Amino acid sequence: MNGIFIIMASIVSLAVAQQSPVLIIPGTGGNRLEARLDKSEVPHFYCSKKADWYDLWLDVKQLLPGAIDCWCENIKLLYDAETSTFSNNKGVETRVPCYGDVCGIEYLDPSLKIGDSAYFHDIIQAFADKGYVRGENIVSAPYDFRYSAHSNKDDYVNATMTLAEDLYEKTGQKVLWVSHSMGGLWSHYILSKADQAWKDKYIEAWVPVAPAYGGTANEMKLFASGNNEGIPGVSGKTVREEQRSYESNFWLLPSLYLWDENEVLVTTPSRSYTSKDFADFFVDIGFPDGKQIYEAMKNEVYGLEDPGLPTFVRYGVGQETPASYEYTKAGDWDNGLKQTNEDGDGTVNRRSLEAGLAMKWENADHKAFDGEDHTSVLKNKDLIAELLELANA
Ligand SMILES: *[C@@H]1O[C@H](CO)[C@@H](O)[C@H](O)[C@H]1NC(C)=O
Repeated sequence: MNGIFIIMASIVSLAVAQQSPVLIIPGTGGNRLEARLDKSEVPHFYCSKKADWYDLWLDVKQLLPGAIDCWCENIKLLYDAETSTFSNNKGVETRVPCYGDVCGIEYLDPSLKIGDSAYFHDIIQAFADKGYVRGENIVSAPYDFRYSAHSNKDDYVNATMTLAEDLYEKTGQKVLWVSHSMGGLWSHYILSKADQAWKDKYIEAWVPVAPAYGGTANEMKLFASGNNEGIPGVSGKTVREEQRSYESNFWLLPSLYLWDENEVLVTTPSRSYTSKDFADFFVDIGFPDGKQIYEAMKNEVYGLEDPGLPTFVRYGVGQETPASYEYTKAGDWDNGLKQTNEDGDGTVNRRSLEAGLAMKWENADHKAFDGEDHTSVLKNKDLIAELLELANA
């Protein structure tokens, strides 16, 4: 009897030992961000001037009409054109909780266990059901999603490579690296900084889910008009300044590799703008700092070279996705907007999801899930089954 138990136990531990640890790189807005306030000015009497550490993202109550004005002031970045650097607004401190664990990505609003708030829950739970332990062999690298790789805030590239190395040392197995959305840009950037020997040693495979590799056309509207992201009772204009202030939104501009100079992204009664015209576009929408920010980044962070490791790109398609915008009233970026759509996952254009095909990446496998959108794909049962299989879970 005992003998059988010992044999069984050793089979079980052998199986467990072969499981790849999982490292998750979330998308923009895909992890919690905490703030502490000590402000002298607020936009309304009902906005807090002082607060101890609290969830600045995500707490859906803070996005309600009225409350969102306080939130915008607390989360927006300031840009200093003299030094070309970003910082928090005055009187605001921020920090990213749960680095090296999954508590920042499983539920974005910890009080809301459903819908998009349950961001990575299904995937994490599927691994937990196979014996994975949160914060041990399934972890994530959350980040301050207002910044791009250009600022590399909190030394994110190094920290995340170190996290992957630690996972490998701890488990003796190569890491299954999973990303979502803008996490795909971060992953691509980090992997482009790693040499081949590092990738071969530490990484089993990379699964970019819904990668926004080459950006999205809807960034044009976000910068010009603001994008209310479907929040009821909130206008684009309310969030425009806040959205313009994120360095990461520049990272998500349509890529020059995927949108050529003949393809119009925005038209107005007086001119049109293609991917070659971003500098003019920022000036014309009344945001000259945008030109400077874009020009500082443009030769550095938009590369689409072969990531050089087994890559399994997974994404939704068959959703109407913004392709271009027509502003019908001269000089008015708030009214009279017409949108043209193309295929994609509802947020990211198909060509961006499939940049690896256009760029002829050698070791990349692409699979589209018809009918899934940018976030629903994370809950797709076939995707989750494939992740478990890739990790040998
Ligand atoms: C991260 O930075 C530390 C300190 O500079 C260095 O020792 C380490 O090798 C770096 N790690 C990686 C993966 O580059």
